[in-house]
Parts: sequence; C-alpha cells; structure tokens
Amino acid sequence: MTCLPELIILLFGMKEWYEITGGNRLEGTVTVSGAKNASVAIIPAAILAGETCILENLPHIEDVQSLKTILEQLGVSVDITEGDCMRIDPRGQNTTRVIGPAVSSMRASYYLLGSMLGRYGEVELALPGGCVIGKRPIDQHIKGMRALGAEVELDEERNIIRAHASKLKGAEIFFDVISVGATINLMLAATAAEGQTVLQNVAKEPHVVDVANFLNMIGASVKGAGTDVIRINGGRKLHGCSYSVIPDQIEAGTYMISAAATMGDVIIKNVIPTHMEAISAKLMESGARITNGDDGRDFYIRVQMTDRPRPINVKTLPYPGFPTDLQQPLMAYLCSGSGVSIINETIFENRFNHVKELRKMGASISVKDKVARVKGIPHLHGADIKASDLRAGASLIVAGLAAEGTTNVANIHFIDRGYEHLDRKLQAIGAKIVRRVKT
Ligand code: EPZ
Repeated sequence: MTCLPELIILLFGMKEWYEITGGNRLEGTVTVSGAKNASVAIIPAAILAGETCILENLPHIEDVQSLKTILEQLGVSVDITEGDCMRIDPRGQNTTRVIGPAVSSMRASYYLLGSMLGRYGEVELALPGGCVIGKRPIDQHIKGMRALGAEVELDEERNIIRAHASKLKGAEIFFDVISVGATINLMLAATAAEGQTVLQNVAKEPHVVDVANFLNMIGASVKGAGTDVIRINGGRKLHGCSYSVIPDQIEAGTYMISAAATMGDVIIKNVIPTHMEAISAKLMESGARITNGDDGRDFYIRVQMTDRPRPINVKTLPYPGFPTDLQQPLMAYLCSGSGVSIINETIFENRFNHVKELRKMGASISVKDKVARVKGIPHLHGADIKASDLRAGASLIVAGLAAEGTTNVANIHFIDRGYEHLDRKLQAIGAKIVRRVKT
C-alpha cells in the first residue's frame, strides 16, 4: 500500500516538501536575516578587494552556498566562520573561467562579470540562471561594459559570455531600463576603470546602496547610490575590510504578509523600517495595523490584523515602489480579501506562475497580460501544490498558513535559495509547518 508521503512523492516527483496545517494565528517575534540580494552581490564584489574581506550577517541560504562553491572552484579561499560570517581571500584565484552547474543555477553569478573584468581584465562566464519569471535579458550589462571599453562576446549557442579589456576607462552610461543587476554590475566594473563613470537611470534598491557602501569600505569612491545617478571615481587602490550586510527587505515583507494573512500579531525584528514603507502602506490600506519601533538593539515592525483584508490595488515598481519580489506573497494574502484586488506586475513579463497553484486552493484569480484580478473568498483550503520559483514558493507558504486544512508545498529547493530556516522561524511564531523528507 502506498502511504501519503510516498503518494506525494509519486505525484510531485519531490524529495522534500513543507506540510502546513493552516488556520493558526501567528503570534510572537521573528528575526530577519541578512539580505539575499545584497549578499549575492557583495560576495562576488569581494574579489575586487584583492585582500581578505570578512562579511557579516550573511543569510544561511542556498544562493550563498552556491557562490561559495563557485568562488572555491576559482581558487578563492572561502571560510564560513562563526555564525553568519564569511571570510573571503581572493589571492589564490587561479582562473577567470567560471563555468559549471552552480553558475547556471542562479542569477547573481553574473556579478562575477563586473568584479572579474574589473580585477583581472578578463572573464569567461556561463550565462546566469535564476527564477523563471519571463525573459531576463542582460543587454544593459553588456552595453555598460562595452562603454567602459571592454570587448564583450555573447556566445548564445554555448551559453557563455566572454569579456576582456586591456584597460577599462570611465564613461557616461544611461540605462534604457532600470535594472538592479546592471546597476550593480557596472558599479563593480567601474570601480576598476580609470577616471569617472557616471551611471544614469539606475536602480535605487536597498541592496544597490549596500553594495556601494561595501565598495567604499574597500577603498572605492562610489557616490549617489540610492538616487538616480551614481558617480564612481575608479582606479583606486582597493583593500580588504569587514562589512555587515543589511537585513532582508523581502524576507521581512514575507513575514509581515504572513502575520496579516493569519490575522496575527507579530513583531518582525532586525529591519530597516524605511525599506518597508511600500509594503507597510499596502498592508495598512488593507486594514492591518503597522507600528515601527526600536527596542534599543534592533528596529522592529509590528503587524496586527483582526479581519479579512480589504481589497487593494497594487502595482509593482522599482524601489521605492512596491517590490516585485513581494507581489506573489501579497497575492496569496489578498485571496481571502473581502472584495476584488487588482495586481499589476510591471517589472517581469511572467511572474504569475503561482496563480494556478493558488487556484487549486480555491482562489478566484483571473489574469490578463500583466494584470491579475483577485476576488477574495472567505477561506482558501489546503491542497497539494508546488513552487515554480523562489517567491512563488513564499506565496504558497503564505496561502498554506492562511488556509483551512493541510497544504503540501513541493519544490521547496526554490524556497531554500532565499529564505533562511523558514520552517523554524515560522514554527517559533506559532505556525504548524513541518519539513518532510523522503526517507
Ligand atoms: C534583481 O534581479 C533581483 N535578483 C530580483 O530578485 C528582483 O526581482 C529584481 O532585481 C527586481 O527588483 C537579484 O538581485 C539577484 P533587473 P535582476 O535587472 O537584477 C529588465 C528574488 O526573488 N532588464 O532589475 O535580474 C528585466 O528583464 C529575485 O529575490 C533588461 O531588459 O532584475 C526586467 O524586466 C528574483 N535588460 C527589469 O529589467 C537588462 O540588461 C528589471 O530587472 C537587465 C534587466
């Protein structure tokens, strides 16, 4: 006879999944880890320093592990020291060829383009992977590197990008689209370019500012990060440093949404409240009570919710607008709203893969182009569902926590890429969530 977990494995082809018994009100305190999207840029950036860097407050997530593996394959010495610290010494690096499954498994490996071109004047890199959320071109990265004087060849047949430059020279670069990745990659390369680089129409996300702060700590001159224009005076002698990564805006937002979705009362610690303004505003509009505070050690946000969410309209935008990375979890929350919510995804062309899974839980969602219409129902019900990408996974977790009955979320390796100990953190605030493993 086939038992339930085996049946789930047969059905979903998975080895691990989250089993969630929904309907429990979340209550208590949860602490946010270091920011994924800052960490995965600062780790490759450490190559530029040419000396040992010690990075603190890194999250324990798969994407950080993958970068460790990639750097070690290059000959870089990487030690995870106590807790959440990583010691990176790039002096043993013996190749500028970065190929292999770990590289193609994630998006952020493309930051090695900027850091290695800057440090060594050459790089050969497998094209990045990452979440499947529509076309994710890198034309702005390439345009920027070429403007700095690099020769860049995109070998799409072999899935490789090659770049080299005998000398990088500062330039004025206007981005045609606002891109987090292109902004950061160009900051990295321009740090090593002779003279001034001016980047215009840049991304202003908190992790862009964090990378700029790190670069300044290793001796670079990066000014204006967090505004529309960044000026970099390149070619300075760089050195090692110790640096602590900012808290994760998206992880914090995911717990805020989870608290509201379960009509809970949760304090989310280790946040930078200004980073959370867009999500706080939308949760308040939907009826949640949000309070910011400082306990003398950490800044925190308290989320209290007592009723079904009121319907709201949300449009994803570059920072300081509502982050696309929280669109999917927010949609799960609005499924139990008291009216019709409209969600307009403007950043990625196909970030609605979670919708068909939410429908299996009873959600009433229609999608036309990049706009989803979510008609709230009193309760989602438990179902066997699977994550298609990282934030789709977070969305399904929120849905499972709020739903009546048991939800099994498969493909949780996507969630592991970006959430540290998600199950343990949720259990500590009263969620019934268990990581099941095929024995
Ligand atoms: C970063 O991706 C994040 N990833 C994403 O987080 C996040 O969703 C995204 O920024 C937007 O905030 C990392 O930081 C590793 P973009 P990135 O370049 O840099 C278009 C998560 O869940 N574009 O800002 O790849 C692009 O197609 C992940 O944590 C070009 O057209 O995003 C998109 O429509 C998923 N040409 C828009 O710009 C380019 O050369 C924004 O993309 C580059 C981008």
